Amino acid sequence: MKILITAGPTREYLDPVRFMSNRSTGKMGFAIAEAAVARGHEVTLISGPVILGTPPEVSRIDIETARDMLAAVQKELPEHDALVMCAAVSDFRPKITTCHKLKKSTMPPVIELIANPDILHCIQPEKGNRIFVGFAAETDNIFIEAERKLKEKGLDLIVANDITQVDAGFEVDTNRVTLIHPEQEPEKLPLMSKAALGEKLIEFIESKNKANCTPSDAGSV
Ligand code: CTP
Repeated sequence: MKILITAGPTREYLDPVRFMSNRSTGKMGFAIAEAAVARGHEVTLISGPVILGTPPEVSRIDIETARDMLAAVQKELPEHDALVMCAAVSDFRPKITTCHKLKKSTMPPVIELIANPDILHCIQPEKGNRIFVGFAAETDNIFIEAERKLKEKGLDLIVANDITQVDAGFEVDTNRVTLIHPEQEPEKLPLMSKAALGEKLIEFIESKNKANCTPSDAGSV
């Protein structure tokens, strides 16, 4: 399969020096990319600014802002069979970005924000038979929130992540998640490495892809 994966944070600039971002390091998305390559898939990885090296055989596209990420996903999606939106996309950006550094003497005390596009929402019409996997990083009402996002974003699976735990979520090598599928009981997974979770998600994509194949496809090469 050809699998498109997004990873890392986005940056939303106020001026050439300052930006809004989040704690994502890209570890989870890069682990999924490695797992996919290890199982023989072709991988395109769209990454926000992270300090990780590109895994072997992965085709990497670096972006900075949510709007850059949207444009890259829209360009790449037609060539891919599955999308894993692991990136922590900034929901807002400063309304005004200046091309000169703001000085503290003139810096406004309040920064006005405007909404960024929701990437999954924007590409929903292009889903077709493609498999879409999302992540939900939550602190409260984890399952309610994750199920809402699963439905609203038209996903085949959402990985619900309680980011209040110290050994799961941002900046660590392990994760403790619950997989939420439409019309199925949530599947609570134990603490595991991000590498092992990456493998599990790729196995899900493979089995979903097999199930999506119509009988008339079954005999084709
Ligand atoms: N996502 C996206 N575009 C955005 C924000 C998020 O495509 N502008 C994707 C993320 O990559 C993730 C899923 O949507 O796969 C859920 O992201 P999350 O940040 O948990 O949820 P939000 O949609 O931002 O909703 P809320 O602010 O209510 O938590």
